[in-house]
Amino acid sequence: MDVYEAILSKRDTRDYDPRPIADEVLQRIVRAGRMAGSSKNEQPIRLVVVRDAERKQALAGCGDFATHLPASPLVIVVVRFEGSRPFDAGRTAQNMMLAARAEGIASCPVGIQHDDCAREVLGLPANTIVAMAITLGYPAGGRIQSRGNPRIGLDEFVRWETWDGGTAP
Ligand SMILES: Cc1cc2nc3c(=O)[nH]c(=O)nc-3n(C[C@H](O)[C@H](O)[C@H](O)COP(=O)(O)O)c2cc1C
Repeated sequence: MDVYEAILSKRDTRDYDPRPIADEVLQRIVRAGRMAGSSKNEQPIRLVVVRDAERKQALAGCGDFATHLPASPLVIVVVRFEGSRPFDAGRTAQNMMLAARAEGIASCPVGIQHDDCAREVLGLPANTIVAMAITLGYPAGGRIQSRGNPRIGLDEFVRWETWDGGTAP
Protein backbone atom coordinates (compact mmCIF):
# COMPACT_ATOMS: atom_id res chain seq x y z
CA MET A 1 0.00 0.00 0.00
CA ASP A 2 1.49 3.36 -0.95
CA VAL A 3 1.27 6.43 1.25
CA TYR A 4 -1.55 8.07 -0.70
CA GLU A 5 -3.69 4.95 -0.51
CA ALA A 6 -3.03 4.67 3.22
CA ILE A 7 -4.08 8.29 3.69
CA LEU A 8 -7.27 8.07 1.62
CA SER A 9 -8.38 4.73 3.06
CA LYS A 10 -7.64 5.63 6.68
CA ARG A 11 -10.95 5.98 8.49
CA ASP A 12 -11.41 6.06 12.22
CA THR A 13 -12.41 2.54 13.14
CA ARG A 14 -13.58 1.56 16.61
CA ASP A 15 -14.33 -2.17 16.32
CA TYR A 16 -11.32 -4.44 16.47
CA ASP A 17 -10.44 -8.08 16.27
CA PRO A 18 -8.92 -9.11 19.64
CA ARG A 19 -5.82 -10.42 17.79
CA PRO A 20 -2.78 -8.81 19.42
CA ILE A 21 -0.37 -6.64 17.47
CA ALA A 22 3.08 -8.23 17.26
CA ASP A 23 5.97 -6.44 18.94
CA GLU A 24 7.86 -5.91 15.68
CA VAL A 25 4.80 -4.25 14.13
CA LEU A 26 4.37 -2.08 17.21
CA GLN A 27 8.03 -1.10 16.85
CA ARG A 28 7.40 0.08 13.29
CA ILE A 29 4.43 2.14 14.45
CA VAL A 30 6.24 3.90 17.29
CA ARG A 31 9.28 4.52 15.08
CA ALA A 32 6.99 6.27 12.62
CA GLY A 33 5.79 8.47 15.46
CA ARG A 34 9.32 9.26 16.59
CA MET A 35 10.28 10.54 13.13
CA ALA A 36 7.67 13.30 13.14
CA GLY A 37 9.37 16.66 13.04
CA SER A 38 8.74 19.19 15.80
CA SER A 39 9.04 22.93 16.19
CA LYS A 40 12.76 23.79 16.61
CA ASN A 41 13.29 20.04 16.84
CA GLU A 42 12.38 20.29 20.51
CA GLN A 43 10.93 16.77 20.40
CA PRO A 44 8.37 17.43 23.13
CA ILE A 45 6.33 14.27 22.56
CA ARG A 46 6.40 11.03 24.53
CA LEU A 47 4.32 7.90 24.07
CA VAL A 48 2.82 5.58 26.67
CA VAL A 49 1.88 2.17 25.26
CA VAL A 50 -1.00 0.57 27.17
CA ARG A 51 -2.06 -3.05 26.79
CA ASP A 52 -3.07 -3.97 30.33
CA ALA A 53 -6.85 -4.52 30.53
CA GLU A 54 -7.37 -2.80 33.89
CA ARG A 55 -5.30 0.20 32.87
CA LYS A 56 -7.26 0.55 29.61
CA GLN A 57 -10.49 0.44 31.59
CA ALA A 58 -9.23 3.14 33.95
CA LEU A 59 -7.98 5.27 31.07
CA ALA A 60 -11.38 5.06 29.36
CA GLY A 61 -12.80 6.80 32.44
CA CYS A 62 -10.56 9.81 31.67
CA GLY A 63 -12.27 10.49 28.33
CA ASP A 64 -15.85 11.50 27.62
CA PHE A 65 -16.19 9.49 24.38
CA ALA A 66 -13.93 6.52 25.09
CA THR A 67 -16.36 3.62 25.40
CA HIS A 68 -14.56 1.58 22.73
CA LEU A 69 -11.15 2.02 24.34
CA PRO A 70 -11.13 -0.97 26.76
CA ALA A 71 -11.80 -3.48 23.97
CA SER A 72 -8.96 -2.16 21.81
CA PRO A 73 -5.95 -4.50 21.84
CA LEU A 74 -3.51 -1.61 21.94
CA VAL A 75 -3.66 1.99 23.07
CA ILE A 76 -0.90 4.52 22.47
CA VAL A 77 -1.21 7.65 24.55
CA VAL A 78 0.45 10.69 22.98
CA VAL A 79 1.78 12.97 25.70
CA ARG A 80 3.31 16.42 25.23
CA PHE A 81 5.23 18.63 27.63
CA GLU A 82 3.64 21.88 28.75
CA GLY A 83 4.58 24.76 26.47
CA SER A 84 4.80 22.55 23.38
CA ARG A 85 2.63 23.00 20.33
CA PRO A 86 -0.35 20.69 19.75
CA PHE A 87 0.70 20.46 16.08
CA ASP A 88 3.73 18.37 17.04
CA ALA A 89 1.50 15.82 18.75
CA GLY A 90 -0.81 15.76 15.74
CA ARG A 91 2.04 14.95 13.40
CA THR A 92 3.19 12.15 15.67
CA ALA A 93 -0.29 10.69 15.95
CA GLN A 94 -1.03 10.79 12.23
CA ASN A 95 2.37 9.26 11.36
CA MET A 96 1.58 6.32 13.63
CA MET A 97 -1.99 5.87 12.39
CA LEU A 98 -0.84 5.84 8.77
CA ALA A 99 2.04 3.46 9.47
CA ALA A 100 -0.47 1.22 11.23
CA ARG A 101 -2.90 1.48 8.29
CA ALA A 102 -0.14 0.30 5.95
CA GLU A 103 0.20 -2.78 8.21
CA GLY A 104 -3.54 -3.47 7.93
CA ILE A 105 -4.20 -2.06 11.39
CA ALA A 106 -7.09 0.29 12.05
CA SER A 107 -7.09 3.10 14.58
CA CYS A 108 -9.07 5.92 16.13
CA PRO A 109 -8.01 9.01 18.06
CA VAL A 110 -9.71 9.30 21.44
CA GLY A 111 -9.82 12.58 23.32
CA ILE A 112 -8.75 12.49 26.96
CA GLN A 113 -10.60 15.40 28.52
CA HIS A 114 -9.55 14.78 32.12
CA ASP A 115 -5.79 15.21 32.29
CA ASP A 116 -5.51 14.71 36.04
CA CYS A 117 -7.27 11.37 35.70
CA ALA A 118 -4.86 10.25 32.95
CA ARG A 119 -1.85 11.54 34.90
CA GLU A 120 -2.95 9.36 37.81
CA VAL A 121 -3.68 6.26 35.71
CA LEU A 122 -0.44 6.50 33.72
CA GLY A 123 1.85 8.02 36.36
CA LEU A 124 2.61 11.03 34.16
CA PRO A 125 4.73 13.94 35.42
CA ALA A 126 2.88 17.13 36.38
CA ASN A 127 4.32 19.10 33.42
CA THR A 128 2.67 16.90 30.82
CA ILE A 129 -0.55 17.16 28.83
CA VAL A 130 -2.30 14.23 27.25
CA ALA A 131 -2.62 15.21 23.60
CA MET A 132 -4.57 12.14 22.52
CA ALA A 133 -5.05 8.45 23.08
CA ILE A 134 -5.05 6.29 19.96
CA THR A 135 -6.78 2.94 19.89
CA LEU A 136 -5.35 0.40 17.47
CA GLY A 137 -6.18 -3.09 16.31
CA TYR A 138 -6.87 -5.29 13.33
CA PRO A 139 -10.33 -4.27 12.15
CA ALA A 140 -13.26 -6.49 13.11
CA GLY A 141 -14.38 -8.53 10.12
CA GLY A 142 -11.22 -7.49 8.27
CA ARG A 143 -12.77 -4.25 7.09
CA ILE A 144 -11.87 -0.66 7.83
CA GLN A 145 -15.14 0.74 9.12
CA SER A 146 -16.00 4.19 10.22
CA ARG A 147 -19.20 6.01 10.96
CA GLY A 148 -18.93 7.20 7.37
CA ASN A 149 -18.84 10.88 8.20
CA PRO A 150 -18.67 12.75 4.88
CA ARG A 151 -16.06 15.40 4.15
CA ILE A 152 -16.86 18.89 2.93
CA GLY A 153 -16.44 19.44 -0.80
CA LEU A 154 -13.06 20.33 -2.25
CA ASP A 155 -14.40 23.73 -3.39
CA GLU A 156 -15.24 24.61 0.19
CA PHE A 157 -12.08 23.09 1.62
CA VAL A 158 -9.55 24.74 -0.72
CA ARG A 159 -9.39 28.49 -1.32
CA TRP A 160 -7.20 29.95 -4.04
CA GLU A 161 -4.92 32.91 -3.33
CA THR A 162 -7.40 34.60 -0.99
CA TRP A 163 -10.34 33.42 1.12
CA ASP A 164 -12.94 34.63 -1.40
CA GLY A 165 -11.11 34.83 -4.68
CA GLY A 166 -9.28 32.79 -7.23
CA THR A 167 -10.33 29.90 -9.36
CA ALA A 168 -9.32 26.29 -9.28
CA PRO A 169 -6.78 25.29 -11.94
C1 LIG B 1 -8.98 15.62 17.98
C2 LIG B 1 -9.85 14.40 17.79
C3 LIG B 1 -10.52 13.84 18.87
C4 LIG B 1 -11.35 12.72 18.70
N1 LIG B 1 -11.93 12.15 19.79
C5 LIG B 1 -12.65 11.04 19.64
C6 LIG B 1 -13.20 10.40 20.79
O1 LIG B 1 -13.02 10.84 21.93
N2 LIG B 1 -13.92 9.26 20.60
C7 LIG B 1 -14.12 8.73 19.34
O2 LIG B 1 -14.75 7.69 19.26
N3 LIG B 1 -13.63 9.34 18.23
C8 LIG B 1 -12.88 10.46 18.35
N4 LIG B 1 -12.34 11.07 17.25
C9 LIG B 1 -12.58 10.52 15.92
C10 LIG B 1 -13.50 11.42 15.07
O3 LIG B 1 -14.83 11.17 15.46
C11 LIG B 1 -13.25 11.08 13.60
O4 LIG B 1 -11.97 11.58 13.26
C12 LIG B 1 -14.23 11.69 12.64
O5 LIG B 1 -15.53 11.30 12.93
C13 LIG B 1 -13.92 11.28 11.20
O6 LIG B 1 -13.91 9.88 11.12
P1 LIG B 1 -13.68 9.14 9.72
O7 LIG B 1 -12.32 9.46 9.22
O8 LIG B 1 -13.84 7.69 10.03
O9 LIG B 1 -14.74 9.65 8.80
C14 LIG B 1 -11.52 12.18 17.40
C15 LIG B 1 -10.83 12.74 16.32
C16 LIG B 1 -10.02 13.83 16.51
C17 LIG B 1 -9.26 14.39 15.32
